[in-house]
Parts: sequence; C-alpha cells; structure tokens
Amino acid sequence: MNGTNLATLDLIIALCKRRGFVYQSADLYGGLNGLYDFGHLGVLMKNKIKDEWYRSLFSTGLDIVLFDGSILGPEIVWQASGHEQNFNDPMVDCMNCKRRYRADDPDVANGCPHCGSNKWTAVQQFNMMFQTNLGAAANSSATAYLRPETAQTIFSNFKNIMSSNRVKVPFGVAQIGKAFRNEITPKQFLFRVREFEQMELEWFCHKDESQLFFDFWCKARFDFYRSIGLTEKNVHLRPHSKDELAHYSSQCVDVEYQFPFGWKELEGIADRSNYDLVQHGLFSKKDLSVYDERTATSLVPHVIESSVGVGRLLLSILFDAYNQDTIEGDERTVLRLSPKVAPITAAILPLSKKLTEPAFKIFKDLVPQYGPHVEFDDTGSIGKRYRRYDEIGTPVCFTYDFDSQVDGCVTARNRDTLAQERVSIDFVNQYLQDVIK
Ligand code: GAP
Repeated sequence: MNGTNLATLDLIIALCKRRGFVYQSADLYGGLNGLYDFGHLGVLMKNKIKDEWYRSLFSTGLDIVLFDGSILGPEIVWQASGHEQNFNDPMVDCMNCKRRYRADDPDVANGCPHCGSNKWTAVQQFNMMFQTNLGAAANSSATAYLRPETAQTIFSNFKNIMSSNRVKVPFGVAQIGKAFRNEITPKQFLFRVREFEQMELEWFCHKDESQLFFDFWCKARFDFYRSIGLTEKNVHLRPHSKDELAHYSSQCVDVEYQFPFGWKELEGIADRSNYDLVQHGLFSKKDLSVYDERTATSLVPHVIESSVGVGRLLLSILFDAYNQDTIEGDERTVLRLSPKVAPITAAILPLSKKLTEPAFKIFKDLVPQYGPHVEFDDTGSIGKRYRRYDEIGTPVCFTYDFDSQVDGCVTARNRDTLAQERVSIDFVNQYLQDVIK
C-alpha cells in the first residue's frame, strides 16, 4: 500500500509533540528558541540512529577507535583551531524593530518578516561560540568555550589516542557528542538549533591517500543513508565551490537531503588536510608527527572528516517516512520507518483485557533482547492502538486474540501493507528478526 507523503514542518512538529519524540525546551515557560528536549520515542530513535552509524563505520572493517571528549575546552584550543577568529556568521540588524538576522537569510532580501521594514545595519561578523569562564578566577586564562564541533577534542588529544590504542595511520576516531552554536536565527525545528549532537569520524591518513579515502568515505556515507531507509531520490552529494569552504578545509562534499524547504546539508564530508594537527602542534609546542611505516617517513597525518547532526538526520528520516493513507474511506498517518530506526520495533497487543496475562508473557520473553524497543499495550480499542503504532512507525504488531489460546498463534500485522498472518508464539522472536534484517 502506498500512501502520499504530504509532510510539512507543522505536521512533523505536531506529531513529535503529540507522540513524545521532541518537545520545545522549557515549554512551560514559553520555550526557548533553538533548543529542544527529546522524549521517550525521540531518545529510542536517536539511540538506534547512533547504533546504525557505529555499525556502518565498523562494518567497513577499517581500524576505528572510539572517543568521547569534554564539551568545555580552553580558549587556546579554539585559538589553535581558528574558531575564535573565523567561526563567524555575517549578521545584520533591522533598523526598525532591532531584530537580528543572518545576512544571507532570504528574509533579509525580502524585507523584515516581523515589521515589514527593509532597512538594515551594515553587515557585522558574529562569532557563534558560547563563551564561559572556568572556576572562580575572572581572568582571561580561565576563558573556555562550549565546543562548536566535537572534532577538536580528538585533535587536541591526538597524541594520547595514538599511543594508547596502538593504531597506525590510516585509522579513524569516531565520536558522538554535543556541540553548541549560538545560531543567529535558529530555524526549521531540529534543522538549525543551538545545542545538538554530532556524529563525527576523523580519518587520519597519509597525504597521498587522502583523495582515495575522501572518495571512499563519500560513497560509504551515501550508502549509509540508503541503508537506514532514506528514499534514494531525496539524497544526493554536492561538492562545495571554493568560496563555500570552511576555514580549515581544502575540499568538501555535502550529503544533501531534499527537505520540504529545499535541498539542505545533512552531512559534511571534508578534507581538512593536516591543518588542525599542524595548528595544535604550533600552539602546544608539541610534536604531533607520526612515523609512517609504509613510506618510512615522519608525517603529520591528513584528515578526512564525516560529520552529521543526529537531530537533523532524525528530522530528515521523519520527513521521509511520513505518509497519509486512505483505507476504505478512513485516513491514517503512518511513519514508514525502516525497522533499523523505528523507535518501537514491535508491540504486543491483547485483543481484550481478559487476555492480558498470556499476552504479557510474550512481551516479557522479548524484553531481555529488545529492551524498550518492544512495547506492551492493553489500553483502548485495538483500532486506536494500531493507529498509534502506525503513527510512531512500528513495523509490526502482534495481536493476541481468543483463538490464540486454542492455536498457540498471534496475528502479525504489517504496518505498511496491513497484511495479517498467523504466527506461532514460539516463532515470534524469529519473525521479528526477519523483519529487522
Ligand atoms: N566538524 C565539522 C563540522 O562541524 P558543519 O558542516 O559545521 O561541520 C556538520 O556541521 C553537521 O552538523 C551538519 O551537516 C549538520 O548535520 C550538523 N549541524 C551543524 N550545525 C547545526 C545546527 N545549528 N543545528 C543542527 N545540526 C547542525
């Protein structure tokens, strides 16, 4: 059964709130712009996305180690990386209502949406890092920043990572963690926010192999998006022109997704050359070169980076999966999520409260393996329960009915086709494994 994808930002935001994926931060107090909290289903979905990301990296068979750096970093790290000087967005203020916009925001060209004025101050550079002070000392040596990308914690601990993991170039360091940017105009729900999680891979290699690995990772990352179910025609790779490149990168390809508000960056794949390690070597006055056995030389490795925001990816998956079907005159909203990223993989539903006990036993047997990704629900009519599980993208529901007590089977209902088949209770787990494959 094919539904129609009529997803709009408002529909996705409403669904996220109604079903407990994502809420506005501090909603009780009117909310905070550009900040969001994740509810039960949002956390479960993010966890699956992160697991799939790790799986995709490790399934390459390449040498990759894990890292989890601190969010706060001393000023010198951000001086060395160039962020203190260069991590700026161009900003203008409306001369009439004083609202602030990114200079390249289409609203600036079209006139201020708030007051209709089209008079702007000259463009100023606005640094997007959040600054703070460590400890009680109010001097500049205690200045710290919340990291605007996770990558720098890897570069500034490169020596320890190398020596403690017994890795040799080429190898990768993978990190999932929070990053913070004081975006001038946070926009489009989870798309552009001020606090978000990044999944970053820093791949260290010899300069001569950097093109080879750049091409390798572009293909691997594109394949990842297909593997988690994004519609192929909605994803493409777009090479950056020279004037778009970040201050640290010599070439960059964006993985873009076709959102309802246009093709936008989902992930950046960048050749960072050896810029970061050279800079940290200079600022720390430490030698960050490594011995390369293949060429029998000392070198400061080059870096190919893959970087994607968890929330932005979650948003693209929701847009991609959102469908409205009409079944015999009845409307239903359904998320056609891949089982790999569906927050709830399966639900066990007794047809009547009288059947709770035997149905609950099936659920209990699945929980050790699937944890919170399986649910039990005996509240409300079966129709209402199906509608909820369709709307949160649960691939299969197992219904325990009065015949189950006689034939030892449950009805497996397929979310997408609505096909129903009897499955022996003994084979429910196997059935689920086949669904996940
Ligand atoms: N270390 C490289 C780096 O941070 P980036 O292109 O600035 O590169 C990488 O960010 C990814 O992080 C983006 O492709 C996007 O998925 C996510 N991201 C960046 N800024 C974001 C924001 N304000 N809100 C949500 N996600 C963001």
